[in-house]
Amino acid sequence: MEASATSKLLVSDIASSVDHVPSNYVRPISDRPNLSEIETSGDSIPMIDLQELHGPNRAGVIYQIKNHGVPEKTIERMMTVAREFFRQPESERVKHYSADTKKTTRLSTSFNVGSEKFSNWRDFLRLHCLPIEDFISEWPSSPVSFRDVTAEYATSVRALVLVLLEAISESLGLAKDSVSNTLGKHGQHMALNYYPPCPQPDLTFGLPGHKDPNLITLLLQDEVSGLQVFKDGKWIAVHPVPNTFIVNIGDQMQVISNDKYKSVLHRAVVNSDKERISIPTFYCPSLDAVVGPQQELINEEEESPAVYRSFIYAEYYEKFWDRALATESCIDLFKASKT
Ligand code: OGA
Ligand code: NI
Repeated sequence: MEASATSKLLVSDIASSVDHVPSNYVRPISDRPNLSEIETSGDSIPMIDLQELHGPNRAGVIYQIKNHGVPEKTIERMMTVAREFFRQPESERVKHYSADTKKTTRLSTSFNVGSEKFSNWRDFLRLHCLPIEDFISEWPSSPVSFRDVTAEYATSVRALVLVLLEAISESLGLAKDSVSNTLGKHGQHMALNYYPPCPQPDLTFGLPGHKDPNLITLLLQDEVSGLQVFKDGKWIAVHPVPNTFIVNIGDQMQVISNDKYKSVLHRAVVNSDKERISIPTFYCPSLDAVVGPQQELINEEEESPAVYRSFIYAEYYEKFWDRALATESCIDLFKASKT
């Protein structure tokens, strides 16, 4: 007999006992992954060697990066402790469960169970991690190494992000600290995404198409494929390369750069035989930061008026969660008024 989907909080605890996805995961035919039609990334997602940061190709720093300075051991430990976390018994995991999107440490499922129409085949542990000392005591203490490993990883990834922000500032013709200076006290969140094997991966998503609302995302993934990026009108599978990060430009970079950088539409699909773990680091402004196009990039007389109005990041972030990934991005709600 099929286990009742409704009695379980997390998809991890549904996945192994069903041979059909429960009806709340089944999307309309027009909104399914079409897995058989997906192309492989091949050469279409550029691999950027971060050593080039010191050369003339800085403006192209986006997507996969290697030689990034985050030690292999740090990455390996992070992935291992994430796997261990999700392999713990349900009773241990659900201690962290919350559907409240405002909680700074929480385990949840899908995207936003409070507002979405379709469920997604994903559980996730979301953590705030800047400054670490404000949040570390909320983080799971099981597995025992969880806090140390995660703190080390978050610190190391942050250093990398700051290097990228300098390079991106310079690529925009700005002083190297200019993007960093628009972020208030800065914010850094992580998600540990867990996608269990899914009996019918053609009917549902791990995460449907979306653009990240934050500034820039550095995604670490295990060796199982699932990430897809929308490029030149098509969904492209981005297969994992060990010890690299995928760099995704988020909505705030699009705003700050006044459309010189565009946030990237991406999604995660699931598969029937392997669990998958991905660990995005979402770097963002602090909630109180005032975000808007950089002054130097606006010229009302010439062809570059401000595309977006200024706003407080908290306002944007709240909109993002409320919409339940119903549309790709909420950036259009923040356009400068045309009058
Ligand atoms: C995300 C995301 C992609 C993945 O968590 O925002 O896009 O491959 N994840 O898990
Ligand atoms: Ni994303």
